[in-house]
This record gives sequence, structure tokens and C-alpha cells, in this order.
Amino acid sequence: MGESLNVGMIGCGTISGQYLATFERLPDIRLTAVADAEPERAQATARTTGATALSTEQLLASDDVDLVVNLTIPAAHLAVSAASLDAGKHVYSEKPLGSTLSEASQLLQKAESNDLRLGCAPDTVLGTGIQTARRVIDDDLIGRPTSATAFMQSPGPERWHPSPEFYYQPGGGPLLDMGPYYLSALVHLLGPVRRVVGMAGRHLDERVVGSGPRAGSRFPVEVDTHVTALLEHVDGALTTMVMSFDVAASETPKIEVHGIRGSVSVPDPNRFEGAVRLRRDGDAEWQEIAPSAGFRDGGRGCGISDLAQSLREGRPHRASAELAVHFLAVVDALERAAREGTVVDVENRCTRPDPLPLTRR
Ligand SMILES: NC(=O)c1ccc[n+]([C@@H]2O[C@H](COP(=O)([O-])OP(=O)(O)OC[C@H]3O[C@@H](n4cnc5c(N)ncnc54)[C@H](O)[C@@H]3O)[C@@H](O)[C@H]2O)c1
Repeated sequence: MGESLNVGMIGCGTISGQYLATFERLPDIRLTAVADAEPERAQATARTTGATALSTEQLLASDDVDLVVNLTIPAAHLAVSAASLDAGKHVYSEKPLGSTLSEASQLLQKAESNDLRLGCAPDTVLGTGIQTARRVIDDDLIGRPTSATAFMQSPGPERWHPSPEFYYQPGGGPLLDMGPYYLSALVHLLGPVRRVVGMAGRHLDERVVGSGPRAGSRFPVEVDTHVTALLEHVDGALTTMVMSFDVAASETPKIEVHGIRGSVSVPDPNRFEGAVRLRRDGDAEWQEIAPSAGFRDGGRGCGISDLAQSLREGRPHRASAELAVHFLAVVDALERAAREGTVVDVENRCTRPDPLPLTRR
């Protein structure tokens, strides 16, 4: 397997547990240090992992850290990732890479000029769900793709997240929070986006914390919470997308892709696994496709393993900052389209990441 990559984790909150569970079974990742703005969280994580609890500054100065995993809240992503790159560390950030296109582009530029790798979640799209669906399309089983639908409709994360305020502050909202899963999946399936139209709105000015010690406390909503969009991909396929925290319940499929000879039903891009189903012209029923590509039994953090391997092999990593910047360029264009009521070109392009063969980590 070769040398392992020494990883320092900044941000030991809700999502960190999922990364830690994956790290335990990744032979090419060694968690050496952890830090959090609330030091007792880092200390608690250190006790269960054997990593050393440090301040952020100490972690960035440590020779035992090659790559920083940035699991802080979105508003802190830019500062933490920029400081990590300045300290000469590779970085893998939770999504979004930055709160705006300009923040994310700055980070990508900094990484490139310092010759460092910058990766970004989501890596769920490297699981068997999205990768098998991609293989169905790449193997021409539905013919030329013509359209897709992508729906994330929920009542919002404040029912279960004990500190949900960040979801409703700049850098949050359903598009920035959940859009990365859907847009990354759509880029894998259909390629980058070249034009958008959209509308956005919000339904409540205040929300209520639903769980944890602050349950019942109210907080303001500062972002749009329902976004509808049409995306035109570079090869002409058209996606209809809805991202919402304003929907009580929904039965719309997560993603479907339609081609000139058939359709593929694509599982939740926020999960590594899920049923991929194909129905071609003339078929009486949907047919489930066995996993044929992607990380088997994947977990959050597999993208870092792919990055570690890509460093050894001298190839691009798949959960890339380039894709994360493209996502933010689409968001930027959508916000303008919604504001101005116009069709907006997306100037940015990203490379469609390489497909991932069936892999176990
Ligand atoms: N919670 C989820 O289910 C989930 C799922 C996927 C992705 N994410 C993403 O993961 C990231 C973290 O989310 P979370 O739910 O774990 O949030 P959280 O609030 O539970 O945890 C964030 C942690 O980061 C620490 N932190 C904040 N700013 C910091 C700074 N400047 N320096 C050091 N530490 C700092 C906080 O003290 C906290 O412990 C977000 O980008 C979110 O979008 C969360």
C-alpha cells in the first residue's frame, strides 16, 4: 500500500465521527493530531483516537501533519484552509470549499501556486451508487443523455442538528449545503454546466433548534431556503433541480437521468451506496444494476484516501477543488439568474473527474 499520509483534523464536531470511523480502516491515512476552537472537543477526540490534541496553530506547525482535514463550519472554511496551505499542508475541506466563488478560487490559486493538493467533499459521489450510475451512462446503456432531474426537498436540518444556525447563515442554505452532492453527481454523470436559470425564496424568517441542550431557542434565517433551477450541461443535457429546506415531506426521486434510449434511476448522492435502476425502451420494468464501480462500503474520508493514492501515483485526485469551484460558479450564476430574472452563462469549467473502478477500502 506504500507510505501513509499523516493527517491533522481541525473541527471535531458532529461530522467528525464519520471521518474517524473511516480513517480506522484506511491503511493509507494516519490521524496524528486534532484541534478545535473548543479545546475540550479536540481533547475528547484525542482520547478515543490516540491522536494528539493541539491548538490550531500547533497543528499547523507540526511536522507530523502532511494534510489538514478541515471539518469546521462553512464560515471558517476559508480562513482554516488558507492558513493550512500557508503552512505548507495539503488540505481536504468539508463542503463548501468557501462561502463564495471568490473565496474558493482564492484557495485553489493558493494551492496551485504552493504546489499543494486541495481536495473537497463530497466524496460520497465516489461510492458505488453514483459511480455505478455513471458507468451505465458511460457504457451507453441509455444512449445520449438528454435530461435529468435532481431533487433535495426536506424540512431543514434543525430537527436533528444541535447547532443548526450555520445552515441558515451566509455560506449555508440548501443550495450550498446539499447542492455539492447533487452538482458533483451531475458533473460525474453529465459533465459541467454551461448555463443556468433559477428562482429562489424563503418561507420563514426564523427557525427553532429542534434537539440538544438549546432545543426550543429561535434563530434568524439569513439565506434563501428554496431554490429552483434549470442547468444546461456542456453536452446539451438539461437538468431540472430543486434544493429546499422548506418542504414538509416529499417522494420525488433524488436523481434521474434520461437518454434517447432509456432512463437510469440514481440513488441519493449524499450516500455512498444505493440501488441503481435502469429501464430501457421496450423494458416492461426497471432492472436493478449490481454495483460495478466506485468505493464499496465507502465512508466519508474515502476521498482523502484517493488523494493520498493520487499523490503517490502523480495523478489528479477525484474529490477536487476544481469541481468544488465549478459548483460555486454554478451557485454564483444561479444567484445572479434569480436576482436578475435572466439566463446566466457559467464561465468556469471543470474536468469531469476520472471514473472510479470498483474498489474496496
Ligand atoms: N453534520 C452533518 O451531518 C454534515 C454532513 C456532511 C457535511 N457536513 C459539513 O461538515 C462541516 C462541519 O459540520 P458539523 O455538522 O460537524 O458542524 P459542528 O458545528 O457540529 O462542528 C464544527 C466544529 O468546528 C469547530 N470550529 C468552528 N470554527 C473553527 C475554527 N475557526 N477553528 C477550529 N475549529 C472550529 C467547532 O467548535 C465545532 O466543534 C460543515 O462544513 C458541514 O457542511 C456536515
